[in-house]
Amino acid sequence: MSTAISVQRTRNPRPRPKDDELAFGKLFTDHMFLAQWDEGKGWHDARVVPYGPISLDPAACCLHYGQEAFEGMKAFKSGSGMALFRPRAHVARLARTAKRLCMPEVPEELFVDGVKALLREDAAWLPSAAGTSLYVRPFIFATEPFLGVRPAKQVLFAVILSPVGGYFSGPARPLRLWVEQERSRAAKGGIGEAKAAANYVASLLAAEDAKHRGFDQVLWLDGAEHRYVEEVGTMNFFARIGGKLVTPALEGSILPGVTRDCVIRLARDEGVQVEERRVALSELAAAGKAGTLEEVFGTGTASLVAPIGELAWGSDQIRVSGTGALGEKLRTTLAGIQRGEVADRYGWLEKV
Ligand code: COI
Repeated sequence: MSTAISVQRTRNPRPRPKDDELAFGKLFTDHMFLAQWDEGKGWHDARVVPYGPISLDPAACCLHYGQEAFEGMKAFKSGSGMALFRPRAHVARLARTAKRLCMPEVPEELFVDGVKALLREDAAWLPSAAGTSLYVRPFIFATEPFLGVRPAKQVLFAVILSPVGGYFSGPARPLRLWVEQERSRAAKGGIGEAKAAANYVASLLAAEDAKHRGFDQVLWLDGAEHRYVEEVGTMNFFARIGGKLVTPALEGSILPGVTRDCVIRLARDEGVQVEERRVALSELAAAGKAGTLEEVFGTGTASLVAPIGELAWGSDQIRVSGTGALGEKLRTTLAGIQRGEVADRYGWLEKV
């Protein structure tokens, strides 16, 4: 059974940007999708409406206690139509996040039908140049006007679309990461593995410091000892050491990235040994000195696979010696699958 979705079209459609003018997350399409949840009533009023401000009671719980979560996925041109990349993986992750944040689960059908209805409405906004896509941002937040601290009884699920180019501005180059030694993004038992807005605000101050020092993003270490790599500002972390690909294991404080999962599967299918385990900063430093740190890259929906050329902290620095060939190969294969140019043998694309 499909979700009943009403559609109210905009009377003021806006001009579409040119593909070569696209940055990340600055422009939004003509419509958005909304659905409400009330305790006792469940989900209702699924609708596509003109994109615009959402009215909120000043006492809405999300404004006070941060009960908000989101997803990020992408839609691509596919033949004469379009396709979503791994929407079911995003539905599942949002469900896990919602559970952790005491919010109602968005049913798979409501999520997927809502996203597809919105994409059909704003299909003309889908860019087609290489490196571009329509970024889909589903999010859920507590709207109940109530100042007591408990799970909200009213919630809004919304989806907006943004035509995007690459996440990082400027010419492509390996990223420079500042290794944060004092602050922590997340701790064991916390909400680090949830895609909660709170995790991103927790990262901002360190990210700003890193930027002022001339670095692109922060490399986060574990919250207990500051010894083991967790993740990069907006990406999961991978290093190729002595031919093997290593990435921090998902032990509760790291975001389980969908692109991380794709990269692990693609690399294994290429015959590369992939280890999901603890990765100590000292191991990376030793490999850097020994010349066995062959490459480092980050993965994420927005950034895909981004090469990393340097890790620095205090007066220490690790420069990555290799050429980034594996990361580049994985990036090309993944982008090829997304754009329908490489066979999708994993069933990752879903027609809209
Ligand atoms: C993504 O890669 O889609 C993310 O959600 C990370 C970020 C842009 C917040």
